[in-house]
Amino acid sequence: MDAEPALRVVGVDAFYGTSHVLHATTLDVPRGDVTAIVGPNGVGKTTLINAIMGLVPIAAGRIEAGDMDLSRLPATARRRHGLALVPQGRRVFRSLTVDEHLTLVPSGASGRFDRDWVFEVFPRLAERRSSLARNLSGGEQSMLAIGRALTANPRIVLMDEPTEGLAPLLVEVVRDVVERVRGAGVTVLLVEQNLGFALSVADRVAIMHRGAVDRVRERDAITDVEALSELVLGTTE
Ligand SMILES: Nc1ncnc2c1ncn2[C@@H]1O[C@H](COP(=O)(O)OP(=O)(O)O)[C@@H](O)[C@H]1O
Ligand SMILES: [Mg+2]
Repeated sequence: MDAEPALRVVGVDAFYGTSHVLHATTLDVPRGDVTAIVGPNGVGKTTLINAIMGLVPIAAGRIEAGDMDLSRLPATARRRHGLALVPQGRRVFRSLTVDEHLTLVPSGASGRFDRDWVFEVFPRLAERRSSLARNLSGGEQSMLAIGRALTANPRIVLMDEPTEGLAPLLVEVVRDVVERVRGAGVTVLLVEQNLGFALSVADRVAIMHRGAVDRVRERDAITDVEALSELVLGTTE
């Protein structure tokens, strides 16, 4: 792990109208491994991910990638800078085919994660390559959302609950994909409701409560999963 984080969130505030959702949120995301954000529903995990991606404006604070201040850049510029998002709820393009999703890559992006790589890790998508996304099952749409983000060959991939609603076998496939992406040196920032999954893939977990990350625990330092689970749920302080 390099000393310099891949991504830094510093004192970020965000609002929806007058509703104050992120409160001076701070998080360092080390380069080249997997950080999981965990926490109860509604604490602001998706808002934080979307703020990093430039999809939710920030009212205070900074978001930096390396020595680049992304805070005021639009999402397109953040994508060019190497960020990619697997959004919560998949959000695939209903009227595009699987093939089209996996060849949408912005010009210039090339690398190991191309359509063939996606078909290798998700063979089911190869079988459905000519299908419109609206005709895919939920699990297939999840694979497609992950594949689409990776074909941009990001340096940092943000995954917002990629295992939500997936059958256990497919959760295992997603775990394998996250491990391969990590193995390729890509930084992964993952939001997970499933603490078991988070602990099985992440190098550390960042626990969010009330609009801010209040602790970060290195995986190797976690000995008591039950105590961690209570911390995540907010039943202990
Ligand atoms: N587009 C929106 N407009 C208004 N409020 C929102 C919007 N999106 C989320 N919220 C509210 O912001 C808070 C944080 O939501 P979110 O970031 O989705 O939480 P999480 O991902 O941790 O479940 C919740 O209270 C939610 O109701
Ligand atoms: Mg969410």
